[in-house]
Amino acid sequence: MTRATWGSRIGFILAAAGSAVGLGAIWKFPYVSAKNGGGAFLIIFLIMSFTLGICIMIAEMLMGQISRKSPVGAYRFFGGKPFSLAGYMGVLCGFIILSFYSVVGGWTLFYLGRSFQSGLLTSDVRVLKTIFETFVENPYLPILCHALFMGITAAIIVCGIQKGIERISKTLMALLFLVLLILLGRSLTLEGAIDGVLHFIVPDFSKLSAEMFLDAMGLAFFSLSLGMGCMMTYGSYVNRDTNVATSAVCVTGLTIGISFLVGLMILPAVYVFGLNPAEGPGLTFIVMPAVFSYLLGGTYFAILFFFLLFVAALTSSISLMEVSVSFFIDEFATPRKLTTVILAIVMFTIGIFASLSLGVLKEFTFFGKTLFGLMDYCTSNIMMPLGALMTSVVVGWRSRKMFQDYLSDGVRYPKWFSYISIFCRFVAPFLILIILFQNL
Ligand code: TRP
Repeated sequence: MTRATWGSRIGFILAAAGSAVGLGAIWKFPYVSAKNGGGAFLIIFLIMSFTLGICIMIAEMLMGQISRKSPVGAYRFFGGKPFSLAGYMGVLCGFIILSFYSVVGGWTLFYLGRSFQSGLLTSDVRVLKTIFETFVENPYLPILCHALFMGITAAIIVCGIQKGIERISKTLMALLFLVLLILLGRSLTLEGAIDGVLHFIVPDFSKLSAEMFLDAMGLAFFSLSLGMGCMMTYGSYVNRDTNVATSAVCVTGLTIGISFLVGLMILPAVYVFGLNPAEGPGLTFIVMPAVFSYLLGGTYFAILFFFLLFVAALTSSISLMEVSVSFFIDEFATPRKLTTVILAIVMFTIGIFASLSLGVLKEFTFFGKTLFGLMDYCTSNIMMPLGALMTSVVVGWRSRKMFQDYLSDGVRYPKWFSYISIFCRFVAPFLILIILFQNL
């Protein structure tokens, strides 16, 4: 069977950017950067993304494009059997991430529905906290929303690469951009917004710390969908004559650009109304409705905002599901539809426990974390850095020669490409090893 391919280069870039722009950009980025004091963190995050991030993204996309396989096959192709373990780890990692990602995806659906009703928009943050906690701890409702979100994701995957992922990503990314611009316009025209903007971008280097570097690196991996073979899988649907290095630069630029605009949309508003930006993971769900309650036509802005959040989460969750689905299709030649349905059911079931672990199963903790927290921690802080490390080892050391041969008789790569390969060989593994050990 010939492998499915993207319909166009822009389709590929938008699908990859859709994978990258997600809850990471809208939900994690603003509170992590506020927690780390704004400007200085932003600069470190930008540097990490445009060096380490771009480098690993190019490496992943190339591994996919050349081998035309999902992660397990791609690692086996370049590194032989032992390295295929890294591929299995990637598939497992995607599986775990989607199980809890879909739970949060369900929350965005709930809040979207809730913003059509009255009562959500209040300036009393305590009330909003109660709404959030009561919902998350409810044993049924979040699971229902989680099922709905997983179902929508699976329905897109069943339609395949061009008709499913590419078409949806193209439409939704355009929509996302439009909604973002409207909300950004509203936020920046608030009286006093400029102080919030300055707070967000002016660096305060006295706040630099080792932990900040770790946070910046972890966030860069998560927000660029790196370290578990997601970009490898998307790369495997790219034609041989496409220059993936330039595509990776576009994807990174687009993603970081959007994250920046999101920060610019959320933080000034939070600042103007005197709310606490370092509120933590609740920032989006607790603080944003309070922000909207101050606005004329706030209900409409709330609907737009939660729609934005839902769309961003959806284009990311499809990329996560595609990794496992393409693994089964590649390795066992199973039919796409059946594979998707079965995997979605299994991931949904695991997600149920992640969701319950925030409510009725709160008492069951592992290493002081709920199941939900543990799944997040293990994937972001252990499996993803390990995955990125393996990618840089394969590209920079183990199969360096093979890559060079392929690259010299394929597409003509620009001059700067040679710097990237040096970076992949020396700087990337070293940097990643540091994060890994600091985190453990
Ligand atoms: N990047 C997405 C976000 O920011 C999440 C995501 C999708 C992801 N695919 C991934 C994270 C692969 C890590 C690895 O929300």
